[in-house]
Amino acid sequence: MLRKDKIVYQIYPKSFQDSDHDGWGDIRGVISRLDYLQELGINYIWFNPMIVSPQKDNGYDVKDYRNFDPRYGTMEDFEELVREAKKRGIDIMFDMVFNHTSTEHEWFQRALKGETKYKNYYIWRKGKGPGVPPNNWQSKFAGSAWEYVEQFDEYYLHLFDVSQADLDWTNPDVRQECADIVNYWRAKGVHGFRFDVINLISKSSFEDDPNNFDGRQFYTDGPKEHEYLKGLNRASFGQDPEHLTVGEMSSTTIENCVQYAGEDAEELDMVFSFHHLKVDYKNKMKWELQAADFMELKELLTKWQLGMQEKNAWNALFWNCHDQPRSVSRFGDDKEYRKESAKMLGSMIHMLRGTPYIYQGEEFGMTNAYFTDISEYVDVESTNIYDVLLNEGKSKEEVLHILQERSRDNARTPMQWDDSENGGFSDVTPWIRSQANYREINAANDRRDPDSIFAFYQKMIQLRKTMPIIQEGLFEPILEDHEKVFAYKRVLDRECLIAVNNFFREETEVRLPEDVKGYSVLLSNYDRKDAEQTVTLKPYETLVLYKA
Ligand code: NOJ
Repeated sequence: MLRKDKIVYQIYPKSFQDSDHDGWGDIRGVISRLDYLQELGINYIWFNPMIVSPQKDNGYDVKDYRNFDPRYGTMEDFEELVREAKKRGIDIMFDMVFNHTSTEHEWFQRALKGETKYKNYYIWRKGKGPGVPPNNWQSKFAGSAWEYVEQFDEYYLHLFDVSQADLDWTNPDVRQECADIVNYWRAKGVHGFRFDVINLISKSSFEDDPNNFDGRQFYTDGPKEHEYLKGLNRASFGQDPEHLTVGEMSSTTIENCVQYAGEDAEELDMVFSFHHLKVDYKNKMKWELQAADFMELKELLTKWQLGMQEKNAWNALFWNCHDQPRSVSRFGDDKEYRKESAKMLGSMIHMLRGTPYIYQGEEFGMTNAYFTDISEYVDVESTNIYDVLLNEGKSKEEVLHILQERSRDNARTPMQWDDSENGGFSDVTPWIRSQANYREINAANDRRDPDSIFAFYQKMIQLRKTMPIIQEGLFEPILEDHEKVFAYKRVLDRECLIAVNNFFREETEVRLPEDVKGYSVLLSNYDRKDAEQTVTLKPYETLVLYKA
C-alpha cells in the first residue's frame, strides 16, 4: 500500500549513535534519539543492515539474515525499538539484501562442502580456459566479477565484492528463502522493506560484454525480474495491507520502473533510480570528475517525474544516501551558502511528486568528509578503486581528490549531534573517523538558530503530511530552458503550487509563467513574504508559492 503522505528517514546505524562505548552505533543508541526524529516529524526509519555480517561491505555482505550482529544489540533491544518507535508514530523499514550473500553465509559454506542443494543457490560457470573467467564482466567494486574455486574447477559470480556471491534466482528454493526472510521480519513488526539492487537478480545470459564494459546489459532489469518481484510480493509483504516497499534499481529505465512501481503492478511501492546522481560523472564514469551538468540534471528529473506520473507509478525522492557524497557539497555550496543551499536542495526534492527520503545529518547540512589520507577510508569500493586508479597512472593527490568528491565514506562518518568529542556520536574512537567540522556543523548548533535547516525540514515535512497537492498534485515543468533555475508546478483541481529553485551562487532573474497575485509564500529560505511575476532570486534561493 502506498501512502503518499509519508517521509522516510534513513539511518546508517553504524554511524548514528553509540550507546555502549565501542565506537559503533547501535540499536539502543537509536532508541535514545527517537524523540529527535519524532520532532523532525518523519514516519518511517529505513535502517541499513544490522544483521550478522563480516562487514566487508558494511552489512551488505550478509552472513545470517535473521540475527543482529551483537555489536548492534539484541533482538530484545530491537523489540523495544519497534515499541518505542510505534509510540512516536514511526514505523521501521529494513534493508533486504537478496542479490547476494556473504561467502561466509551458511549456504555458501555448505555449497563449498559439496552439498548440491546449496551449490545450486549460487551462480557457477566453467572458465573459458585455464585462468580465464567465464566472461569479461567486471565487479562493481573493481576487477573480474568471477572468482575461481579450485575444488569445482568453476567460478562463482560476484557482481560486488569477491565476498558477496550472487544468488541464483532461477532456483525456486532461493526465492522461497527470500520470501521466508521477509516474513520473519514482518512477524517482528517490520512493515517496510528496501530491496538492495533488486533489479539485478534476473540474469539474461552469460555472454561477454561486446563493448568491454562491465556486463550490466546482461543482468540489469533482466527478463524474469517482474515475475520474481510479483512472486515475492505475493509470498510475503503483499499480504500486509500496511507495507511500504522500495526497490533500489541500478542503471534502470523508466519503462521498467513504471512496472516495478506501478499502482496496480503488485511489485513494489516505489523505486530509487540514480540517473540524476550521475550528472557529475564525466562520460558516465564514476571516478572521472566533472562539474555537475545542471541542464542534464533538470532534464533527467523532469523526464522521471513525467514518465512515472504518466503511468501512475511512484518515485522515491532523494539526493543523499549511504552510497552518495553529501548533496550540499555536491550540488550546493558547503561553505558560504551551506545553510541556504541545504534548504534549497531539500525544498527542491520535497515538493516533487514521490516519497522523500532524508539521510541522517542532511537535516542540518552535514558535508563531505574531505579525508586527506587513504588510511582514513574504510569503504571497500574506495580502497579498491584507490589501487586501480594509481595503477592506471593517476597521482596519489589526484586519486585522493577524486575520493574526496566521490567516496561513499563521505556520507558514512559519525552523526554530528553536538560539539562534544566525536560530535556526540561516541566517547571512544569511532569505527570511521569523525569529520573535522563537527564542532561547528552539528544538530545542536543548527537548532540554536531560529532559522535552522532542521526547522525548515520540519516545515516541509508538515506540508507534505497535510497538503494533498504535495501528496498528489500533478507535476508540470516550467522555465525548462532557464540555465540556473529548476522550477515546476504542482496542480490539483483548482489549487496550484509553484516551486522555483536557484542552483547557483549568483542572483538570477526569473519570469514566472503567470501572474502570482493571490499566491501565498509556502516556503522561502530568505524570509520572502510575497512575490511578483518577475523575481530576482538570491543565491541558492528556493521559493514555493501556493494558491488554493
Ligand atoms: C547497494 C547498497 O546500497 C550498497 O551500499 C552496497 O554496497 C551494494 N548495494 C551491494 O549490496
